[in-house]
Amino acid sequence: MGRLQDKVAIITGAGSGIGRASALRFAREGARVVVADLNGEGAAAVVAEIEQEGGVGLALTIDVAVESQLKTMVDTAIDTYGELHILFNNACNTDPVMSKKDSDFFTFDAEVFHHRMQTNVLAGVLAARFAMPHMLERGSGCILFTSSSSSLKGEVAQFSYGATKAAVNWYVQTLAATFGKQGIRCNGIVPGVIRTAGMEMWATDAMKDAFLDMHQSPRLGLPEDIAAMATFLASDEAAFTNGALYYVDGGINCTTPMVPAVRKFLQ
Ligand SMILES: NC(=O)c1ccc[n+]([C@@H]2O[C@H](COP(=O)([O-])OP(=O)(O)OC[C@H]3O[C@@H](n4cnc5c(N)ncnc54)[C@H](O)[C@@H]3O)[C@@H](O)[C@H]2O)c1
Repeated sequence: MGRLQDKVAIITGAGSGIGRASALRFAREGARVVVADLNGEGAAAVVAEIEQEGGVGLALTIDVAVESQLKTMVDTAIDTYGELHILFNNACNTDPVMSKKDSDFFTFDAEVFHHRMQTNVLAGVLAARFAMPHMLERGSGCILFTSSSSSLKGEVAQFSYGATKAAVNWYVQTLAATFGKQGIRCNGIVPGVIRTAGMEMWATDAMKDAFLDMHQSPRLGLPEDIAAMATFLASDEAAFTNGALYYVDGGINCTTPMVPAVRKFLQ
């Protein structure tokens, strides 16, 4: 019996990286998974992998920035499987052109800011709104968001990204508070640097070496590390978790910023 046996899950951004690993893991744990992604081919490939392993999945091409498509996503899960237990809001536009614009205070603009707010924050909140009536009817439900270490402290780049993830943290707590008494749990995951296609697009080898230095672990993160936490949070074992951020970050957030320098000095 899997840890998510007979549950129905929607995962956005599931055609790649953290979302893909979570979709594969959820399916292995017995969930039926709606693999939602802007990249339809990516989503279909993940469902093919799920089915190859004997699991159940459904690929859905959707742009989370479009409200009507979020409704279609939830409706499709209900029409196909008759119920919905888990909504994992994970999609994020990792387009390098937008990231480059966002990386400089003088080039990031309203368009980048609003697009990121729409995709990273509002999309998850609206998806939760569409999913909520189904969850409330059952008296239980799990909503997850992928946050970021960028949400926790100041940055010198990505002037929209960090702000959107900080807003995600607020909604994690607020949805938990608003619906917790009715059996709905909402939690967020704060990854460290995770080796995904999205991350490989912007991180140079020198940056990866520097990032590794900052983690209190012998390696950078893997998408499967986040999938493992998502599986726990989505499962009934996590029944008493609500409104919290779970760091799966190789310890990058547990020390003062001086540690890499001190460690070198001590060598
Ligand atoms: N990789 C890391 O180091 C890292 C660290 C912290 C947080 N995160 C977060 O993890 C999440 C997943 O990132 P990843 O590293 O796996 O990236 P990724 O690029 O590998 O995957 C992101 C997926 O989202 C999809 N997507 C993009 N825009 C979309 C849209 N409008 N509608 C639907 N799908 C869309 C992409 O097609 C892609 O399949 C993101 O929320 C990201 O902010 C990642």
